[in-house]
Amino acid sequence: MRVLLVLTCLLAACLALRPKPCKSPPLLTGKLTVSTQNEELWMYAKFLYDALGERIRFYEVGKYMNTSYTKDYLLIYNKSTIYDINKDAKTCTKLPLKDKFLPLGVPKNASLLGQAILGSSSGPGQGLLVNTWTGELPEKGGQYQMTLTARGCIPVSFILKTDRFGWMLTSYFDNVIGIPDPEQLIPPCFCKDAEMKNVKPLDFFSLFHQKH
Ligand SMILES: *[C@@H]1O[C@H](CO)[C@@H](O)[C@H](O)[C@H]1NC(C)=O
Ligand SMILES: *[C@@H]1O[C@H](CO)[C@@H](O)[C@H](O)[C@H]1NC(C)=O
Ligand SMILES: *[C@@H]1O[C@H](CO)[C@@H](O)[C@H](O)[C@H]1NC(C)=O
Repeated sequence: MRVLLVLTCLLAACLALRPKPCKSPPLLTGKLTVSTQNEELWMYAKFLYDALGERIRFYEVGKYMNTSYTKDYLLIYNKSTIYDINKDAKTCTKLPLKDKFLPLGVPKNASLLGQAILGSSSGPGQGLLVNTWTGELPEKGGQYQMTLTARGCIPVSFILKTDRFGWMLTSYFDNVIGIPDPEQLIPPCFCKDAEMKNVKPLDFFSLFHQKH
């Protein structure tokens, strides 16, 4: 009887520990790098992420096809608009945005690949417990593998299979929950009169290698 009780408790503990798909915090500020298998793109960006208002701002420095670039983009999903901002020149271009907002986190139908400790488990503060998931993005968005912290569902890395670049790796770091300066998610005043550029609507990933 006692053995059975112990077994039941162990089983319960196992079930309780099994990771479930999770949602990342709706407000995040952080940094990321993107690199691609075909070596055409490398990028570093600071980002502000607002899943409540469905807005994202990127300050990017990168290299695309051996050419360096800097970009400042504000994506406002409920207006299907990308603002391509040049703060110094106080100019702004509006571009049509194709995608629906895809919140950070693990899709419900993702499969768990496993749990692991990044760094080391030998001493306090040396390791980070993460879960890695795999699946496919909606609308033929491609196969993905994503790693997030087991506590807090903070993104660590995201690998996506794309036709354009092969595997595309995004690594997140210096994430802070919240948005200290929400004004950065509002189009600057000099964007008011910008006209929507008459181009084919862009998806999220084409932003990383856009030439205007
Ligand atoms: C978009 O969302 C904001 C709140 O984040 C709201 O104020 C605005 O009216 C919305 N615009 C449209 C076109 O739905
Ligand atoms: C980038 O430059 C390297 C070295 O000069 C060259 O081998 C490569 O083909 C270039 N890549 C592209 C996409 O132009
Ligand atoms: C999960 O759901 C999406 C649609 O939301 C679908 O496209 C995808 O094939 C599904 N399967 C996996 C394994 O991700």
